[in-house]
Amino acid sequence: MAYTPLTSLDVSGARLAVRADLNVPLTHEGVGDATRIARFARGMKPLLDKGARVVVLSHLGRPDGEMTPALTTERLVPALSQALGRPVKFNDTCAGPTVERAGENLAPGEVMLCENLRFERGEELNDPNLGAQLAQLGDIYVNDAFSCCHRAHASTTSAVLAAKRVAVGPLFVEEMAALEGALTDPQSPSVAVIGGGSVQPRLGLLKRLAPRIDTLLLGGAIANAFLFARGYSIGRSRVEPEFAEEVLEIAALAEIAECRLMVPEDFVVAGFQRAGINHYPVPLGGVRANRRILDIGPNTVETYQKVLRKARTILWNGPMGTYETAPFDAGTKALAQTVAEQTRSGLAVSVAGGGDTLVALNKTGVAHDFTYVSTAGGAFLEWLEGREMPGLDALEQKAHAA
Ligand code: 3PG
Repeated sequence: MAYTPLTSLDVSGARLAVRADLNVPLTHEGVGDATRIARFARGMKPLLDKGARVVVLSHLGRPDGEMTPALTTERLVPALSQALGRPVKFNDTCAGPTVERAGENLAPGEVMLCENLRFERGEELNDPNLGAQLAQLGDIYVNDAFSCCHRAHASTTSAVLAAKRVAVGPLFVEEMAALEGALTDPQSPSVAVIGGGSVQPRLGLLKRLAPRIDTLLLGGAIANAFLFARGYSIGRSRVEPEFAEEVLEIAALAEIAECRLMVPEDFVVAGFQRAGINHYPVPLGGVRANRRILDIGPNTVETYQKVLRKARTILWNGPMGTYETAPFDAGTKALAQTVAEQTRSGLAVSVAGGGDTLVALNKTGVAHDFTYVSTAGGAFLEWLEGREMPGLDALEQKAHAA
């Protein structure tokens, strides 16, 4: 990696403008799953202890350039302050002379969180003026948001290009190293578990993985897409017929690459997704017209577990069923526990990523047993797919210009 890690620089007394990704789920009480905040804080704490003065920039939700009170980053202050173990100041803007002055006034070891970047229209438009103003907030502009690098926004691209000095933060470095480790040279047998609720974002991923991974284990909407394309009944399960042709192309690609592409042999079905509803397993081909597939079935769990027990590299994106509603989380839980066991006993390296995946693994209580669970969602998929990522391109351009 050609980027300068922040940890290699002398940060004592330095003003750091840090693009973080504190885009966490919110509840009535405040923050839902705080993993992103905790991970960011873990990397920043030692730098603050060394006397860095930190201005934190983040988006929260998708307010589309409008000031939206429900999405103010001020709501994150208590959780961030708790995670960093020190008070966090708040500034109700993220660009311009007021916030710049407030940043200059920070004492060594102090932190200030700025208002939601996406309240500024220029953020998503990648406005170079906004980028230049964000860059002014630090002696060093730091990208610590690998999970936002798939966005060509002012804070991920223009600010990087405008900054005098640029570095990448500890969480960024950790994420890239884990992903590169898992995909650049996966140890055989390698297995990717791919599920989730939508098909489209996973098509490119499967095309990229097929020539690199020995076995693909499918669940969720992407498995339904393969079954539908092959003419199996999937009842009232959600399907996107427009992807049928592409899905068959992926199956052909996998065959040529000698990648074993496995779909469920049975399912748990019900009339609809509700806790406590009557549900039962049915074999492939046995899904009645008025039923919905809500999870992989017990035989599939067993078959997939056998594959996972032999794997040395495991990549995971997307739950196997509608994990938010018990008992349809059973398939995801069982496989997650198997991956955790394999990892704990040193038999496999496991890397998981994606918003739903992170929540599902946290819910199962095994996220800590995986080798690495990425906090990135869309960026995780796009990186695995090998797509161009504007945030990474900007960092590279900057590194080459230096
Ligand atoms: C994410 O949640 O994946 C990142 O914070 C990016 O958010 P976005 O999809 O709204 O750009």
